[in-house]
Amino acid sequence: MRIILLGAPGAGKGTQCKRIAERYGLLHLSSGDILRLERAAGTKLGKKAQNYMDSGALVPDKLIVEMMAGAISKAPAAGFVLDGFPRTVNQAVELDKSLPAREGEDQRIDAVLSLEIDDRVVVERMTGRRSCPKCGAVYHIENLKPKVEGRCDRDGAELVQRPDDSLDVVQNRLKTYHQQTKAVINYYKNSPAGPAFYHIDANREADKVSDSIFESLDALVSA
Ligand code: AP5
Ligand code: MG
Repeated sequence: MRIILLGAPGAGKGTQCKRIAERYGLLHLSSGDILRLERAAGTKLGKKAQNYMDSGALVPDKLIVEMMAGAISKAPAAGFVLDGFPRTVNQAVELDKSLPAREGEDQRIDAVLSLEIDDRVVVERMTGRRSCPKCGAVYHIENLKPKVEGRCDRDGAELVQRPDDSLDVVQNRLKTYHQQTKAVINYYKNSPAGPAFYHIDANREADKVSDSIFESLDALVSA
């Protein structure tokens, strides 16, 4: 199964993609996580991306498309779930072009889930987010607490706050989302014979959001 999760910053893409990947045995590919790993490793790509990320702007399409095509080509036959990509209509078009070519099989996207959230809720979530620098697990100081304060449940690493989670950068990321990424929703909704499309209310608690996602995907799997 090949799935895309769309949504504003802080909508819960990372949180829900991890659960989807686990339930359906898929590879979770987060463009933001891959970029952060590139930065931590000091690669050329990481260096090129850093100023865009720190200001809340998008990294240029060409860099992202190449990076994600490489990651997707290594996905297992079971499939993948994309988190944070595509983020512009151009990225979506490039993704479509690259998929059917793979090994002559039909590699098209099966489902797109759009996590819909109010901007006000985003700001609350981002300022309380803590992440594991080692495995990427995501927590929240109020809503999704780790078992031991400040430590990752999986590997015990010290949790950190992302540098782009300050209020002014969050506001820029939201602006970027409304100006450049929201159009991707219509690209998929209006695409003839395109993937199944689901609107998901992401203002609710994480387990309720997961229930809605699983209900949609279970129906798709058994269809
Ligand atoms: P990226 O890392 O993708 O950031 P983002 O889209 O801004 O989204 P986030 O990761 O901040 O939020 P999320 O939706 O994953 O929410 P999460 O589950 O963590 O991108 C970072 C940057 O990289 C971009 O700004 C850009 O510069 C660049 N980039 C990446 N992809 C790109 C692309 N394709 N093209 C160009 N540039 C690109 O949840 C947030 C918090 O809320 C957590 O604390 C969580 O515990 C909590 N939470 C989650 N769900 C719930 C719930 N239901 N109720 C209560 N709390 C919840
Ligand atoms: Mg994320």
